[in-house]
Amino acid sequence: MSKTKIALAGLGVIGRKHALAISKSMTCELTAVVDANPATGALAKQYGAAFHSSLEELFDNTKVDGVLLATPNAMHASQGIACAERGLHILVEKPFATTIGEARALVEAGRKNNVRILAGQYRRFNTQVETAREIVRSGAIGKLVGVSAIWAMKKHDEYYDVSWRTEPGGGPILTNLIHDVDCLRWICGEITSVSAQISNATRGHAVEDTAAISLSFEGGALGTVLLSDVAPSPWAFEASTTENADFFHMDDCCYRFMGTKGAFDFPLMRIWTYPENVPQRWDYPMAKSHRPTGPGKPLDAQIEHFGRVIRGEEEPRTSGADGARTLAATLAVTEAAKTGALVTPATIQG
Ligand SMILES: NC(=O)c1ccc[n+]([C@@H]2O[C@H](COP(=O)([O-])OP(=O)(O)OC[C@H]3O[C@@H](n4cnc5c(N)ncnc54)[C@H](O)[C@@H]3O)[C@@H](O)[C@H]2O)c1
Repeated sequence: MSKTKIALAGLGVIGRKHALAISKSMTCELTAVVDANPATGALAKQYGAAFHSSLEELFDNTKVDGVLLATPNAMHASQGIACAERGLHILVEKPFATTIGEARALVEAGRKNNVRILAGQYRRFNTQVETAREIVRSGAIGKLVGVSAIWAMKKHDEYYDVSWRTEPGGGPILTNLIHDVDCLRWICGEITSVSAQISNATRGHAVEDTAAISLSFEGGALGTVLLSDVAPSPWAFEASTTENADFFHMDDCCYRFMGTKGAFDFPLMRIWTYPENVPQRWDYPMAKSHRPTGPGKPLDAQIEHFGRVIRGEEEPRTSGADGARTLAATLAVTEAAKTGALVTPATIQG
């Protein structure tokens, strides 16, 4: 069987990781790279891929089956629509788009052109996240009552030397929280309302550095998230899991799930329940079991899945509409903080 031909648009920080993942695949090949920066052409050549400086140049010259968009956020919708109009299947890095209007237009372009869209929420391919979903959804801790999540890390100060990051939309809500929102949606169910407070008191930028968020999920569970990129802590997905070698691993938990029969922490994967024949009340000891699981290789797994989606062998694990709903729930946090209101995330059809 010939390999599925993928073009990668954007050979920047995450694009380079995707290029490596595609190059290791047994079923997909990196056929072309598209990047506005000609300096990236040399790396494309090392991968044996054709190099183009624009999507139009790709469309006119190189035949591919799908395009992975790892370009800046503001380009995702317009480039995704351009690919869809040429019948090319797409994997869109997060955030799916920057506004709800753009996100809806991209979903619609996929539907109209019969093109499959995979939203790039790669943590859904982390084996620890898959296991957490299975534990929570299997009823192992009873009916979900609530989740407590933290993403707190110290970003180096030079990170904010790039001016767009200091403005609204460039902060930890759209950059980092969106991953946790997606994980929590995938594990706990749809987010139905959001309230939030934000602060910029430590850095003093126009954009938030800290947020306290309250969520409700379909099915009635509640959740809290404390987000901060000025507070050094071991409690953040990247520090807690061993998934990303760019971050120091600190072996602690970032999510705690509580149900009517017990509790579970992530990613230490400990489950506390009452043994049989022991009354379920606070003056009796709970038993602890353990489901140790590594993170696997989620970026590699996402590429293999994209290949199967392109070939029509699987439905997208995160469809375009699903990626747009994660964006909607994340944008609802900013809206809730701005208005002080309880916000229902925008509805996305499809
Ligand atoms: N999933 C994740 O964990 C993760 C991590 C980092 C970034 N991202 C997302 O990936 C995207 C890229 O982020 P990054 O950090 O790699 O950015 P980056 O700035 O390092 O890379 C972007 C690349 O796109 C190229 N580019 C710019 N305009 C282009 C155009 N019109 N056509 C083709 N190429 C163009 C740039 O030259 C650059 O090489 C963003 O949307 C970001 O949110 C996701």
